[in-house]
Amino acid sequence: MENRVYLRAFEPDDYKISIEWRRDPQIWSMLGGTRYYVSSAYEKKWVEDTIAQTKDIKLAICLIENDLYIGNVYITDINYINRTCRSHVLIGNKDYWGNGYAGEALRQLLEFVFKERGMNRVEALVLEDNIQSIKMLKRIGYRQDGILRQSVYKNGGFKNQIVLSILASDFI
Ligand SMILES: CC(C)(COP(=O)(O)OP(=O)(O)OC[C@H]1O[C@@H](n2cnc3c(N)ncnc32)[C@H](O)[C@@H]1OP(=O)(O)O)[C@@H](O)C(=O)NCCC(=O)NCCS
Repeated sequence: MENRVYLRAFEPDDYKISIEWRRDPQIWSMLGGTRYYVSSAYEKKWVEDTIAQTKDIKLAICLIENDLYIGNVYITDINYINRTCRSHVLIGNKDYWGNGYAGEALRQLLEFVFKERGMNRVEALVLEDNIQSIKMLKRIGYRQDGILRQSVYKNGGFKNQIVLSILASDFI
């Protein structure tokens, strides 16, 4: 299938859009990270710091048809000895959920890290009740490695996270 999204580096003004996603309780409830209150100054600095850093690969997901910025996709925790890293994806604009855009964007970044960064294993941690994310990752070829029991405290209780991974040999 022809691509409908492309990845690009962050631009300084992206924070004006991404701050809405950062403040969205539904999005936060799907993520493993801790919820916090975000000022526009904080989000602006986060985007500026992201533009300046080279440790992680953090990119914006945009629609090819109109360049609309709809989400983020990252590779973090890169280990060049073991050739492992961790993937993260977020479609922040909820009008675009359920169209396969997250998987399409993540596939593009996987292609880059397997072919251009020599990675062998890409891991994802997902809250056990984030069914959409688990389905999306498995469709790409991620497989479940195990469960991190009660690894996240959220919304008044402990939650399990699923560990999934994809190997270069599963993908290429
Ligand atoms: C999880 C997320 C990345 C999925 O992205 P997406 O582009 O909508 O994914 P897909 O279109 O491939 O949908 C995945 C599955 O969830 C289903 N789905 C999509 N939206 C749904 C909704 N609102 N309610 C229930 N199921 C839904 C799809 O039908 C699909 O199932 P299928 O494989 O049986 O067809 C996106 O919802 C998101 O960014 N959420 C917030 C952040 C997040 O959870 N990130 C992942 C953290 S690990």
